[in-house]
Order: sequence, then C-alpha cells, then structure tokens
Amino acid sequence: MTDTSGPADANPLRQNLPRSRMPDPCAVVLFGATGDLTHRKLVPALYHLAQGGNLPSECAIVGIARRDWSDEDFRQDLAEKLDANGDSQVKESWDQFATRLVLVQGTFDDPETYARLKERLKELDASHGTRGNRLYYLAVAPEYFATIIEQLGKADLVYPSWQEAPWSRVVIEKPFGHDLASARELNRKLSTVLDESQVYRIDHYLGKETVQNILALRFGNAIFEPIWNRRHVESVQITVSEELGMAGNRGAYYDHSGALRDMVQNHLMQLLCLVAMEPPVDLSADAVRNERVKVLEALPRWSPEDVYQNVVRGQYVSGSIEGKEVPGYLEEKGVRPDSRTETYVALRTTLNNWRWAGVPFYLRTGKRLPKRASEIAIQFRQPPTKLFEVDESDAGSSNLLVLRIQPNEGASLAFQAKIPASRRRLQEVRMDFRYGTAFAIAPPEAYERLLLDVMLGDPTLYTRTDAVESAWRFCDAILDAWARPEAPPPAPYVAGSWGPEAADQLMDSDSAGWRRL
Ligand code: BG6
Repeated sequence: MTDTSGPADANPLRQNLPRSRMPDPCAVVLFGATGDLTHRKLVPALYHLAQGGNLPSECAIVGIARRDWSDEDFRQDLAEKLDANGDSQVKESWDQFATRLVLVQGTFDDPETYARLKERLKELDASHGTRGNRLYYLAVAPEYFATIIEQLGKADLVYPSWQEAPWSRVVIEKPFGHDLASARELNRKLSTVLDESQVYRIDHYLGKETVQNILALRFGNAIFEPIWNRRHVESVQITVSEELGMAGNRGAYYDHSGALRDMVQNHLMQLLCLVAMEPPVDLSADAVRNERVKVLEALPRWSPEDVYQNVVRGQYVSGSIEGKEVPGYLEEKGVRPDSRTETYVALRTTLNNWRWAGVPFYLRTGKRLPKRASEIAIQFRQPPTKLFEVDESDAGSSNLLVLRIQPNEGASLAFQAKIPASRRRLQEVRMDFRYGTAFAIAPPEAYERLLLDVMLGDPTLYTRTDAVESAWRFCDAILDAWARPEAPPPAPYVAGSWGPEAADQLMDSDSAGWRRL
C-alpha cells in the first residue's frame, strides 16, 4: 500500500505513491474472533498493514470467542487458516505478528466476558503499550450488535466521545437493520452508549480503491464535470454481478436477506451516491457524507405500482457456469424449499434533482450470473445529427465511459473513429486505463484501508446514520410492495445467464439494453 521501493520504481506513476499516516497505538477487539470474516478479511488485513509498516508496533489484537482457547490456540488456528508463510523481505513476519494476538473467552451477553476483557486490555496497555485506545469490531450476527454495545457501556469500556485520548470507536458490520424501523431502533440503542462520532458503519465497497477513484476521476479532472448531467448523460448502468451462489453455507443467512438487503441497500446505493453526488466543498468526512446522503434523498418515493413497473426480482434455477453444473437456489443448503427470496434485482430509477432529473439509472445485481464483474457505465448522448455511417452494432456502445470496479480495475472510454481509408464509416474504439499496469501495484484490499481509517479516526468511508436510513426508506417501499399478495413472484433465471428476461423490459425501447460484461 505504501511501499515505494522496488524495481517498479522505474514506472513514473509509481514514484509519487504516498506514505500513510501512522495510527495511534491501540487494542483492536474482534467480536466474532472464530468467524469467517475474521480469518478471511480482518486478520489478513491487519497482517498486511503490519507487513507494510502501517500498523503501530504498539498494537494488540484481542479476539472474543465462546471457545475455551488459549492465546496459542487462537494464533495457531489463524496461522493455519491464513497460510501465513511470511516473506523474508516484509517488515513483520507472521511469528512476530502473532505475538500481538490474544484471546478472551466468553459469550457476548455475559458481563463476566467484559470483566475479563477489561482486565486483559489493562494488561495489554502495560505489555504492548496500547495506551488505553480501543477499537471494537463487531464481526458478529446482527442480533448481537445491541447486546455487545450495551455490555460495553455497562462495563465502562467506552469513553466519553468528547475525550480526545484515549479514544474508543466501534465498527459495525452490515446488515445494519433489516428495514427502516429496525435500523432506527438499532441507531437508538447505539446512541444510549455511543456518540455518532464513535460509530463506524462499514460498507466494504467504499474501501475499494476503484470506488474511491470515482471521486478522483470526477472531481480531480475538469473535463468530466461539465458533461456529467442530464444534458449530456443519457443513462447510467450500475452492475454488481457475482458468479458465486450460496458458498460457505450462506444459504440460511441469505434466505432471510435476499439481494435487495444484501447488496442494493448498501453497496449499490453507495456506488449510486458516488457517481451522482455534487462536488463536496472539501474532502472532509462531513462534506463528503453530506453530498452522498443528498443523492439518497433524491430517490423517488415509490407506490407498490411504481415498484412493479420499475423493479424486477429473480431467483436462479439450476444451470451451468463455466461448463460446471450448479444447483438452483431452492436446492441450496439452508434455503427454504418454497423460498421467494430474490437472488437478483434489477431496477430503474431517477433522481429528483436539478442535475439528474429524467436520466434513468439502471441498477442490477445477482448471484450465479456468468461472471464476477462490477462496473458503472455512463452512456453519453449520441450526436444530434448523423453525419457518418456508424456500424449498427456499435451504435449503443460508443460515447460510453465505463468505470470498472472489479476485476481489471480501471476505466475505459469508448468513442467512434473513422475506419482508415473509408470516407465516412466509423467504428467504435477504446481508450483504456488499468490500475494494475499504470501504477504497477495491486490495489490494497478494502478492509486494509477501512481498518486504517478507523484507527486514524477518519469516518469518510463509513456510512452515517442518515445515509443508512435514507437507503432503507427507498428499499422499504420495494420490500413492502413485494410482500403484497398481488406482487409478482421472483422471475426464474438459469444459473449462468444474465438474469430474468423480465429485466429487459425495464430498459427504454430505444436503449441498447443491459450491458453484457
Ligand atoms: C457482501 C455480501 O457484503 O458483499 C455478499 O453480503 C457479496 O453476498 C459480497 O458476495 C460481495 O463483495 P465483493 O467485495 O466480493 O464484491
């Protein structure tokens, strides 16, 4: 992330890569220490930060778990899961990193757990120099969020927010509520113990380098803003497609969530905010978050009829992906056999504001689509008169700016160029920028950036209460309409296809249709 040495220094774009600020010494307390997220994302992210020299040496990581494990068992388990072979060049190898890891045994609702935690944290202040700073990370099922916060409060493990040092901050994983009412209730419960400035609601999409680059592209260049509006933009398509189905026993969780709650309410809404927001006055957390939330407030308030016309939900049936047979959603482990949970959502919306009124924003996401690919495609208007002959198959895909979020992170601009030696025949060509080749380093994992930011006390890439609630307000209208008896059931689509045919009807008849990625 911050390494500026090495042979790739020959690349001029690489020479100016920044060094990040070093966070304060602190203890990172991971609730859900034996869970999937801890070993798949959180500990690897902390380890990479340490390897890159971005974690203060006075930093300890405390796992909280039900299992009666010693510190050594915890370290051993993580080492096996992480396959942390350590590279001799890195600043901190696994063995050294492992000395930061300790385990406190207990359940989340037992005050004794918190008494033990308090004791251990005090010891770590002395042994690891963590100086009383606490970062609590709630990587647990949402039903535990309120209990943990309440217990932290009762055990006096949270400092007052006005106190600059030592500090306490809490990161809360998604889903933040399952509808507007539950999100509000959760916010209310948190606010009895924590100030908003101490709450970091995570949406890992905001930590992705390419997602942050949307703002850099829009506001760090002067050429895009003048045309970034209803006069010049014909439509915007946001796609987050996934090849995976219910991997890792996710069926039981997902069946009570579905694509709208799991992806649209958070990740797709955040992408929409970044592509549609007004320029902030500066890059301070509040300035950026104020502009993001205004986009959500400009979303329409839909009636059930509006929902049936503008939103399509789908559910995959068995099919094949890359030549491999895969089961249908209803055959997945943990899924109710008569489930109506959607694994695909496509919707068409507009934003009721000066910049975007009338411009359709098409959003879609789904499991078991042909490939994992996320992008934002901005379709600019075609020339008003037709001076040249354009190949019909090209007509819809030029004047197009595509921001690729993953994979092949980068951006491309498709436009028309004259075919050599022809008099007036045009063909689509592309200018392409790829992160990997331009900067010669792989973009860091989203969780690295997000963990670093919370340690630094920078909430810019976290979601504020008002944004969570506005996103739920929009999604609630859809959930309410779907719960009605007259609601059309999820449309089936074959695993490995681009979703149900009904989604095509959302497209305006003169548009080129959904993009095939
Ligand atoms: C998570 C969802 O938030 O994001 C998952 O719960 C989804 O269902 C994942 O697979 C996608 O994240 P990424 O970073 O792989 O695009």
